Amino acid sequence: MSMDERLSELQELRERALMGGGEERLRAQHDQGKLSARERLDLLLDEDSFVELDRFVTHRSTDFGLEDRKILGDGVVTGYGTIHGRLVYVYSQDFTVFGGSLSETHAEKIVKLQDMAVKNGAPIIGLNDSGGARIQEGVVSLGGYADIFLRNTLSSGVIPQISVILGPCAGGAVYSPAITDFVYMVRGTSFMFVTGPHVVKTVTHEDIDMEGLGGADVHAGTSGVAHFAHDSEPESLEAVRELFQFIPQNNAEGPPEGGGEEPPEGSADALLKQVPDNPNKPYDMRGVIGAVADGGRFYEVHRDYAGNLLVGFAHIGGHAVGVVANQPAVLAGVLDIDASVKGARFVRFCDAFNIPLVVFEDVPGFLPGVGQEHGGIIRHGAKLLFAFAEATVPKITVITRKAYGGAYDVMNSKHIRGDLNFAWPSAEIAVMGPKGAVEVLFRRELADADDPEAATEARIEEYREKFAHPYIAAARGYVDDVIDPRETRDRLVSGLDMLRNKRDRNPPSKHGNIPL
Ligand code: HXC
Repeated sequence: MSMDERLSELQELRERALMGGGEERLRAQHDQGKLSARERLDLLLDEDSFVELDRFVTHRSTDFGLEDRKILGDGVVTGYGTIHGRLVYVYSQDFTVFGGSLSETHAEKIVKLQDMAVKNGAPIIGLNDSGGARIQEGVVSLGGYADIFLRNTLSSGVIPQISVILGPCAGGAVYSPAITDFVYMVRGTSFMFVTGPHVVKTVTHEDIDMEGLGGADVHAGTSGVAHFAHDSEPESLEAVRELFQFIPQNNAEGPPEGGGEEPPEGSADALLKQVPDNPNKPYDMRGVIGAVADGGRFYEVHRDYAGNLLVGFAHIGGHAVGVVANQPAVLAGVLDIDASVKGARFVRFCDAFNIPLVVFEDVPGFLPGVGQEHGGIIRHGAKLLFAFAEATVPKITVITRKAYGGAYDVMNSKHIRGDLNFAWPSAEIAVMGPKGAVEVLFRRELADADDPEAATEARIEEYREKFAHPYIAAARGYVDDVIDPRETRDRLVSGLDMLRNKRDRNPPSKHGNIPL
């Protein structure tokens, strides 16, 4: 065969590989409002940056008529490309090929990519759209999943791993995304569940459809399995691109710097009006974050889950940071089970990937209640405490208002290695709020008083004057300074500059034992 003939054969094979499961199945995919595996890669990656690997791989199955049905690539497109000019590895499952199901060879392609990503210190992104284990291949397919899970686990904290769910993701297959750092879902077309509606109906007699059982809003708002939910695939993939403005390539690098744009005009003055004079009035902590972040931009993670704690990324003076903030506008910013778990996972991501933490604190304490106690608030709250305490990245806290009780300790206090802890003059740092404290300390006296209400008010006022301010903590050095709210951004920028070369280490251990 001449070289020309060989080249035209190669061209023909390449074109065939591009066809996936064929035109009819591709049309069905589009009709469901879904993009093809390759269209998704085009949206995710920088233009023309994708380089495909293993396009000639086919399955080895000889059962159930599969021996005559071999499709180049075997249901997953794998390779590497760039996002904002930086290397990423990516696999994109092709539902038009045997429902994107995972065969031995399909798994081998993903595993090869996982090994390359870890060896070369670059993130890996999985675009998931699959019917799960290739039924015809039985245990070989299950083994393939386990090979992927192992690598997900060993890569955790070494390279960022991102999962985008763009179709079904069921059974044990959900455990790969579950181990990765961030999960994105699309409303209406992506589903995650361990057992589907049919099995649920048989076992528990509950009637529920796919969206209701494991759709994007369920996982982004109720279970917390997903960190992001979007209305369309292009929005979801664009959001993944945006994430890469804040995260490093691996655990040996720092995160990418931003341009350092100023926040919107008037932001510093607006901070003066954030905290209401009445300490029981809520306000939106996003206003504070937006007023100190570069360009006012906050890339919020888990926005629809445990809204009483905000987590997400921002740049401050060009430094990429992870923000953890109590949200007084939801449940008064109290810490509960979900908020603790949400915060702990985010803090650990930032610590693993050298992203400094900036904490905004206004927390009345942990949420009281039988449900919370029986649900294990002790164990779950301890996760957040553990995560902050073990973190060795630069850690800065700004107390805007309440810092009460155990929550004061937990929210990156000086005692658990906060590097810089600031308080606004409106800060109240005490064992508990004035009302609760007075009720405990003066219960009998107040009951016997001629006018119990007036006596309570007087005692509350007295307590406020004595404890509800930042100066006792400042006198002890538990906060490094009490600052004018308008100075917040400048103090954060200077603090992040100062901490740029921070070195801190935990005692050697195989790994800690975070209270799971
Ligand atoms: C082989 C599969 C497949 C699978 C789908 N297909 N899932 N082939 N193994 N797991 C094939 C179908 O036969 C069909 O082929 C094509 O993909 C499209 O599937 P449809 O059913 O026509 O599509 P749709 O109606 O959109 O339904 C999608 C679906 C459904 C909900 C995902 O296919 C389904 O329920 N599949 C089985 C899901 C499942 O139970 N998987 C195992 C989960 S357990 P043709 O040729 O007809 O077009 C698991 C264990 C993981 O994954 C273990 C890890 C530890």
